[in-house]
Amino acid sequence: MLQQIQQSYNQISTREWLESRYQSYCGKNGSVTFGFKSLKGLSPEEKQVQWPLLKEAKDLVEKLYQQAESEYKRAEINAQLLNDPIDISLDTVSDRGHWHLLAQERRHVEEVAARMGMHVEYGHDVVTKYQNFYSVNIPADHPAVEMHDTIYLDRKDEFGEYLVMRTHTSAHQVDYIRRHGTPLELISVGRVYRYEKLDASHDSAFWQVEGMVIDRHVTVEHFISFMTEFLSALFGEEKKIRLRPAYFPFVEPGFEIDVNYNIGTKEGDDNRLELLGAGMIHPNVLQEAGLDPNEYSGFAFGIGLTRLVAVKHNIRDVRLFTNGDMRFVKSF
Ligand code: DAH
Repeated sequence: MLQQIQQSYNQISTREWLESRYQSYCGKNGSVTFGFKSLKGLSPEEKQVQWPLLKEAKDLVEKLYQQAESEYKRAEINAQLLNDPIDISLDTVSDRGHWHLLAQERRHVEEVAARMGMHVEYGHDVVTKYQNFYSVNIPADHPAVEMHDTIYLDRKDEFGEYLVMRTHTSAHQVDYIRRHGTPLELISVGRVYRYEKLDASHDSAFWQVEGMVIDRHVTVEHFISFMTEFLSALFGEEKKIRLRPAYFPFVEPGFEIDVNYNIGTKEGDDNRLELLGAGMIHPNVLQEAGLDPNEYSGFAFGIGLTRLVAVKHNIRDVRLFTNGDMRFVKSF
């Protein structure tokens, strides 16, 4: 019987035929169904012999039916797809863009800061001389103010002074304090511009992260513990920081901060990466923003983000970030 069933299926060539063949075995009046019904009239011994045979036949019919049915279904879908004007198999994924490496890192910094409860601010690239220099205690005769260090626009502000491409994100410190008041905890990531002789480690535009924390009774101790926590979160591992005294007109005392960093070096090496400038905000800056320096204190920091990303990803020429070479862009 099994052989006969198998053979009868080999000839089937349409779906209707398949259906009627199935009915002829397992339908209401099918032969296998009939066999099961007639078991009733048999003796227990005969039943024991007949039942497994019928069961085997039924299983085979079901199996052959399912197989052929799924074949038909597949053929039907394929035929539909061929007629469909929308080709879903077209590979569009490879052409999808992604964030530029610097943008990925900028977002990472902003996420880390936001998780620490800091406000995220956005500055702008063109600022006044007041913003870039005077508001943060840089006097007009400071070298940074000179034409050969800074990119000026051919346009003047309301005080008759040329507008500048900000040379640092510190240009917005006073604006931010005025806008947000105290207590203040914020970062701002942005591009800054310098008049540079271009080489592998200098581009005329690069990214910085500015951070500020101001409240009553903020001390150097808060500053150190905050920076340790922030930089550890940024790197995703516990960091040790080292402060070296440094001069920036907008802080007193001022520091340069190094972190231990061991990528691409032997284990046990104690390498230090010079990462940022920072310090306790100068009383003149607080005063400029309308705060009483006897009541409020705080710290600020500026991280060279482009440099940090270059070190982290072992990028030897910072010009690769901006020269539009798609091989570079696609590799991150
Ligand atoms: N603005 C400085 C620069 O561009 C970096 C910096 C130093 C920012 C000390 C700060 C700071 O906020 O406190 O080199």
